[in-house]
Amino acid sequence: MDTEARSGVKKSRLNRHMRGIWLVLLPVMVLLMFMLGWGLGLFTEIEEEPYISETSNQIVVGVSQLGSESGWRTANTESIQRAISKENGFFLIYNNARQKQENQIKAIRNFISQRVDYIVLAPVVESGWETVLQEAKQAGIPVILMDRSVEVEDQSLYTALVGTDSVEEGRKAGRWLEEYLIKKRMSDRDINIVVLKGTEGASAQIGRTAGFSMIAGEHDNWHILEQQYGDFTIYKGKEVMKDLLKKYKDIDVVVSQNDDMTFGAIEAIRESGKTVGVNGDITIISFDAVHDALEMVAEGVINVDIECNPDQGEYVSEVIRLLESGQEVEKRYYVEEDVFTMENVTQEVLDGRTY
Ligand code: AHR
Repeated sequence: MDTEARSGVKKSRLNRHMRGIWLVLLPVMVLLMFMLGWGLGLFTEIEEEPYISETSNQIVVGVSQLGSESGWRTANTESIQRAISKENGFFLIYNNARQKQENQIKAIRNFISQRVDYIVLAPVVESGWETVLQEAKQAGIPVILMDRSVEVEDQSLYTALVGTDSVEEGRKAGRWLEEYLIKKRMSDRDINIVVLKGTEGASAQIGRTAGFSMIAGEHDNWHILEQQYGDFTIYKGKEVMKDLLKKYKDIDVVVSQNDDMTFGAIEAIRESGKTVGVNGDITIISFDAVHDALEMVAEGVINVDIECNPDQGEYVSEVIRLLESGQEVEKRYYVEEDVFTMENVTQEVLDGRTY
């Protein structure tokens, strides 16, 4: 055999030898890799567990709060956090949307992916909720609205609402003004009114505006000079009021749809050299009845405060308990609300007001 032929034979023997080694090694390596992977847990079936495993005995509730624009809102947040607590058997996932509907939609989608048991939504505005509420419904998660309502055609998109009757609040403001003018023997006079409205598109704003307008519409001598949005904040309330005072020299009544805007508006009125309240140039009608505003009612700075009750947490937890025990719930639960004037803001009322 020549050298070339000999080296060819050697090569083919070597190849056969190598193939033999691989045939043995490969299955061993695959087996080793599999065992290693098993040890690291790579082949364990990953079960999507709801949020946190220790919640197994608790009812998991995702709360989407619209923001923290006012003292009232802080009280409302505290109320829901108190009620949906560990001590009461709940696991709360809380989200503050900072006044943005898109943040609320994101939060709801998060709650759905975490497979919460219930969603509580305090919606910043009334419209634009269909899609995300449909997603919650498809996931089988009941949605409870808190404080404000939503505008949806399909009422089954939410289970219940715990909140306030904002149209009635607006009507109460109108009726109070009627009676006040009668008492003052001014019911035949021309009355110039400006309205500081809350957040554009919010049901609280829409309802209060509608309710007050209903009563105002019954009086030809009530003139609503202008209505401006004040976002339910002190800052905006002051800004809007300043603007209105520049435009109108003869404002008789300010209807301010929450206490925070009222605080700002009163500052603006005083800075303009005018006075407010019971013996003042401008009559002040406010909404909410938080502690600091009630003090101003007692002092005669604010004429009337239409209460909007933020203590809604207990009602929400009660609705959840009913649902948990398989009972039917009402579609709407309205919290109790009063009307405060100098006559009924007693020391007892002030001491009892925690917000
Ligand atoms: O929706 C309730 C309103 O929202 C309250 O009147 C106001 O203070 C809050 O910001």
